[in-house]
Amino acid sequence: MIIAVDGPAASGKGTIAKALAHHFGLPHLDTGLLYRAVGLAVLEAGGDPASAEDALQAAHHLSSALDDPGLKSEAAGKAASLVSAHPGVRAALLDRQKRFAEQPGGAVLDGRDIGTVIAPHADAKLFVTASPDVRAQRRCDELIGMGLDVHLAAVLNDIRARDERDSARSAAPLKMADDAALLDTSHLSIKEAIAAAIALAEDRPFTAAND
Ligand code: DC
Repeated sequence: MIIAVDGPAASGKGTIAKALAHHFGLPHLDTGLLYRAVGLAVLEAGGDPASAEDALQAAHHLSSALDDPGLKSEAAGKAASLVSAHPGVRAALLDRQKRFAEQPGGAVLDGRDIGTVIAPHADAKLFVTASPDVRAQRRCDELIGMGLDVHLAAVLNDIRARDERDSARSAAPLKMADDAALLDTSHLSIKEAIAAAIALAEDRPFTAAND
């Protein structure tokens, strides 16, 4: 059983994907971490994430560890959004994601192009979204919780810029798959959003679950 979870930054897709993986007993891959790892590697090497050459170099020498806490930083997120626009970077990360999706028993993956490119034949596809204001407020609360001094207006600007970059790029843009179920979490608590995601996933004709 493969479950694809896509959506924009701070939509809650990561939390939802983790909960789905736990509920269905499946391994989970947050594919944003791969792009963040490439972005961070470029920054640490003193390179420019907007340069295809610098980004490709980092993508081809990516370590397999995705547990660096630095990957969660805003700088890594912004660099990830820039490196992910290079088709060569996407190609370099493709096999690893496809292998994860196609492992025996299935998997849950979350990102931007899981239902459209990585696992177009996924058994269930969710597109998780929320209004930019709600996503900015959530991200702001999260950053304040981490002890950072942030302003809602600046976070909202970053979210809008990230949406624009992720949706406008020509290589595998953020786009809802035609056969995905839309889950708008704007007015849902985390608990409600998870329950709705499980209900939508269970509603799908799972071949593996029905065996
Ligand atoms: O989900 P996230 O915020 O960790 O993702 C960081 C960036 O990585 C995002 O702005 C776009 C890119 N990304 C992508 O292009 N494709 C994916 N499957 C996952 C992330």
